[in-house]
Amino acid sequence: MQISRSKGNAPVSDLTFPEIISLTSAYPVFLRIPVKLTLASMTSPKYRDFPNDNRVTLNDNNYPIALFQNALNLLAHILIGFVVGIPLLFAFQSGLPLVPIQQHIVLCVLGYKLLMAEAILSLCPHNGWTNRLQLVHKRRVHWILQVLGSILAIAGSTVIITHKYNEDTNFNTYHGQFALVALVFTTVSLVNGLASLYANELRKFLPGNWSKITHVCFGIVAFSASCITLCFGFDKLLFRTWAGSDFANTLIAFTVILALIILINPAITFFYKSKRVLKR
Ligand code: HEM
Repeated sequence: MQISRSKGNAPVSDLTFPEIISLTSAYPVFLRIPVKLTLASMTSPKYRDFPNDNRVTLNDNNYPIALFQNALNLLAHILIGFVVGIPLLFAFQSGLPLVPIQQHIVLCVLGYKLLMAEAILSLCPHNGWTNRLQLVHKRRVHWILQVLGSILAIAGSTVIITHKYNEDTNFNTYHGQFALVALVFTTVSLVNGLASLYANELRKFLPGNWSKITHVCFGIVAFSASCITLCFGFDKLLFRTWAGSDFANTLIAFTVILALIILINPAITFFYKSKRVLKR
């Protein structure tokens, strides 16, 4: 992507940190800094040529950008700790055995918010625990986490859907409706992920790029819908009563920030891949 500055048409990756900041002074800070920095790092020649090479030297123009990306990654992991840990505390408040509603909370948050979130982050070039892995190993980590996460998420949803089915009240809340969207897209994305994994073998029947683009797109919808579901979960009266309204609101804000951080890389990948395919 070429983002031009006032003098000439240099790509944004050639700019220094202060130049990037001053580039879009007309826009609100909270929008311009994260988006520009992410674009800058994704479009840098170094990222294009060596997507796994995360080493940045002090004299490198990308140094502040890399620091920013690392800080975002760290923040994502802290937020995962909150949005997974607190619902687990809530679910286990009365000890074992867990009733269906508690089982669904445990399985869904572990599946969607721990394993699937880590599966998406594992492919990000700035992810702390995978950035030294070779691409082939990153992909393996990604699909293993994705399959495990999907199994837990589907199991957690099935437990509560079956429980509510006995009362004949399925999908009568926003929480349930967004959970259904997440469930459908998770299942489709899982099947379609296998097509991406075997893209080479299947390329006679399905162009490799299409299976990858649709996989990224379905994954984005599934993860976004699960985040919205979780927000409605934190908004439930029984959760607000236990956690306190202010803390419940804080967790909703944490979930939104986490979704934005986690989805920015897949969104950029989706944009570039689609652009490349449409140009052909
Ligand atoms: C990503 C996390 C979550 C997912 C994917 C999820 C998914 C679901 C699903 C599929 C249903 C059944 C919908 C239906 O058949 O109508 C449901 C119901 C329910 N969930 Fe969750 N849930 C999540 C987190 C939570 C949390 C954190 C709470 C905390 C209180 C919660 C509380 C409830 C309650 C009380 C119901 C029954 C009432 C209703 O359907 O809205 N859930 N959830």
